[in-house]
Amino acid sequence: MCGGIGLRIFKVQGLKPLHGKIKIQGAKNAVLPMMAASLLAEGRTEIRNVPEITDVFLMAEIVRELGCQVEFRDNVLKINAFGLSGTVISEKSVGKMRSSSLLLGPLLSRAGEVTTWYPGGCVIGKRPIDYHLDVLRSMGAEILDDGGMLIAKAKKLYGTTFRFPYPSVGATENAVMAAVLASGTTKLVNCAKEPEVAELCGFLRSMGAKISGERTGIITVDGVEKLFPTNHVTAGDRICAGTYLAAAAASGGKIEITGVEPVILVEPLKSLRKMGAGIRIFGAAGPKARICMAMEQRPAGIEIDTGPYPGFPTDLQSVFLAAEAAGSGESRFRETVYEARFEAAMRLAAFGADVSVQKDTAIIKGRYPLLPGIAETPDLRGGAALLVAALAADGLSVIADRGHLSRGYEDIGRDLRKLGADIEECEL
Ligand code: UD1
Repeated sequence: MCGGIGLRIFKVQGLKPLHGKIKIQGAKNAVLPMMAASLLAEGRTEIRNVPEITDVFLMAEIVRELGCQVEFRDNVLKINAFGLSGTVISEKSVGKMRSSSLLLGPLLSRAGEVTTWYPGGCVIGKRPIDYHLDVLRSMGAEILDDGGMLIAKAKKLYGTTFRFPYPSVGATENAVMAAVLASGTTKLVNCAKEPEVAELCGFLRSMGAKISGERTGIITVDGVEKLFPTNHVTAGDRICAGTYLAAAAASGGKIEITGVEPVILVEPLKSLRKMGAGIRIFGAAGPKARICMAMEQRPAGIEIDTGPYPGFPTDLQSVFLAAEAAGSGESRFRETVYEARFEAAMRLAAFGADVSVQKDTAIIKGRYPLLPGIAETPDLRGGAALLVAALAADGLSVIADRGHLSRGYEDIGRDLRKLGADIEECEL
């Protein structure tokens, strides 16, 4: 029976091919920076197609704590930043949500001051924020590190030229958000080119910002005096789409995905084709685009190196790896973005998967069917990977989740059930 200690149990009866259509939710990694960017205008910004996921609820809570009014209903998020008054992002908030670092740039820009804490380590490896701090320093911010507490101050931010040592998504976003109201021109080199960075730049432009080059790796921002509230519809979540495609690759079947632009899934779709999936694309971009995938064989072995966009997304490494665990050949996955992102790969042993990990590389020898297993989700995408493995297991698997999955998927159980998966859920 369902109770209330926050443990969600998924009971998955495997070997049911997936069939049907699914509309993909709005992109988590686009919404979070846009929520931060809303703080830059004194007024009410409205963002639609916002996924109802814990990360959005947490960010909304932090933004409220800073004095903004937030309404979130029916996937529509309204943030009124007129009353922005706070400048402290509490240690508790940072602990719950690493992406709270995205507030540094906007807060510094609008309030001239921020107090926050270093994000702790996490299961997918060290996730420092040194690039975020360095680019803000280069724009004139003074940042003191007081035993883990960070105090950043800047009466005014100034245009700068800054080269990122690595194209960090969050640091690029932070820098752009700091630069839009800075005095003068900022040139950012070796920027992340992820679609979510481009979406943030478009969002900021609709607020009155002057930004160019976001798809080229070199972003130029001409500071303006003031930004204005805007309205925006969030693009579909490419990681969510990739998850369901990987699930169908593992289970076999035929699914159709809408709500996400295929053009932002080029590498994952290329990999799926190599795995043997038949893929048809209707309209590469725009709201009516569709991806139809038919999987009539076991996934053939592939070689994947994760990398910054347009490379293969690290966030899809674990779900593709899980599909290959139930494949017909040998695969090699090299993780180049995070140093320790194979926790899910190791947990696949619970399903009888043959996976060996050496440093940044995992070798997978596919076997089918997998065995039914019992496992606990290690993190958000790793949790989805365990569900993918369970879909290809001959029997009843049990997966326990302590809130990881709802950080990024509105309701992954519901979505997979809609596609014909046999999944029961309950809360303990
Ligand atoms: C974003 C995504 C996350 C995705 C990641 C990589 C959001 C909310 N999250 O995270 O889902 O997995 O991009 O595509 O958009 N690094 C540093 N110093 C820094 C910043 C980053 O060394 O100051 C390193 C990180 O440790 C990591 C790499 O750079 O090894 C990439 O991180 P980054 O692109 O910044 O990821 P996030 O923006 O945190």
